[in-house]
Amino acid sequence: MRICLLRAAPGQEDDPRYSDIALFTDRHTFEQRFISKDTIKQDLNFAAAESFDLYFNFLHWTWYGNDHNQSAVTAAKYIEYLAIPVIGLPSRILERCGLDNSGNLVIRSPGVAQEEETTVGDDYSCTTIELDNTAIPLCPVLAYLGVPLKPSYSPFSRDAIKKLAEDTFYANDLHGTFWCTFFIRLDQDSKPTIIGINPMPKTIFPFTSDGKNLSHEAIAVRESFPGSYRSLIHSIIASYFLKRNRNFEISRQIGQEYDTAASKYDTVTAGIYHEGVKGIVKKYNFDGVVLDIACGTGLVARLHDDPQSRSRFVGMDVSLQMRTECLRHGLYSNILVGPMQRLLIVKKERVDHIICIGAFHFLEPNELSLVLSRVFQLATTSVTFTIDEIPDTYKKAQTERGRAFMAGFNHVDEVEKYGVPLGWKLADRWRFLGWTSPTTGGEIYSNVFRFESVSE
Ligand SMILES: C[S@@+](CC[C@H](N)C(=O)[O-])C[C@H]1O[C@@H](n2cnc3c(N)ncnc32)[C@H](O)[C@@H]1O
Repeated sequence: MRICLLRAAPGQEDDPRYSDIALFTDRHTFEQRFISKDTIKQDLNFAAAESFDLYFNFLHWTWYGNDHNQSAVTAAKYIEYLAIPVIGLPSRILERCGLDNSGNLVIRSPGVAQEEETTVGDDYSCTTIELDNTAIPLCPVLAYLGVPLKPSYSPFSRDAIKKLAEDTFYANDLHGTFWCTFFIRLDQDSKPTIIGINPMPKTIFPFTSDGKNLSHEAIAVRESFPGSYRSLIHSIIASYFLKRNRNFEISRQIGQEYDTAASKYDTVTAGIYHEGVKGIVKKYNFDGVVLDIACGTGLVARLHDDPQSRSRFVGMDVSLQMRTECLRHGLYSNILVGPMQRLLIVKKERVDHIICIGAFHFLEPNELSLVLSRVFQLATTSVTFTIDEIPDTYKKAQTERGRAFMAGFNHVDEVEKYGVPLGWKLADRWRFLGWTSPTTGGEIYSNVFRFESVSE
């Protein structure tokens, strides 16, 4: 993607230590366009005329609080008028903002307690990331020490802080902020109170990539957004387009295709494919609740086939007919129907294991980051998935048949760049002959990735 970073014109910046988000991903091309507060609309017209795929508007980071609040609002409003695809603070939220005593942008809201209304206690920050329409709270950070509140330490307080951040997000209609930091005081009875809200703080991005001088937001991202900044940027981009249903048609077509194939799927895939699935599900421990993403007809549970099994399977799939076939065998207690990239965002309950076989190639690369980050947030014990090496010849053949939506992507490189999230280890990785394409007759190799959580 060609992405435009809208920046304040030289000489109009308040902080020369510009946080260059292009440092965190090599997947997209970033270009800067400078906007002067004296010619906001003309400069934005120029940037818009270049038809970038996406714009990042961080002008308020420079202008707001620097006696140019109105310039920041004018720019946000004009960008909304231009209707260009943008990641930035919406004008309706910017207009509700003010500055706190330290010069930070904060929301004026009746729900925020004033200093004199709160009792003494420990202060925490809790940053939420908005994915699709859902606020995902990250790990709270103890303000005065800058240390993350780990899950094992005081889970009750941790959950209460996260819940309050999430509830406050919705109560204040903070949709469109992409990320937002809530300042929360925990009194001696562990009762949390909101004492401040900072929408889209620039401190979420470290000024340098060497990990020094991390802000609380940056600590929270590193601690609890698996895949860290690379994935955060991709996930926010994926989420922007998910909200606007950009890839909805592709998911719908894939679902329709599998609806048609559902009744004969098991017969068509018998042989190498079944052997491959069996080789994976027999090799590892899956005791506990297993979420089978893109479960299809439920081969994972059927080929696991262990009379002593202590696994309980739940699934999700975009095809209603695949779900019907799967439920027929009686091994899955619940199957949600919809695109995984949406369902995983709204899912709250954690599960022991997550598995996904033969389906990640249907996701575009930004969505893959989003899905992986959610998967590592939701699984407690293991994450197992396959990545098919989709060859260009297969893509070409599918495209020529008007079925480009079924081709997908070879994500091996992307998964390697995603890396191993904090708290996890790559326990196993191997390559095998996955399937033979019914379209080209070519052999498609696949890669198994098995991650296991490591205790703190
Ligand atoms: C090749 S089949 C694999 C099914 C099963 N995992 C197996 O190994 O037999 C691909 C499955 O992915 C599902 N699928 C494709 N894209 C999806 C998406 N975005 N979200 C959820 N399911 C999806 C399809 O409906 C289909 O059931």
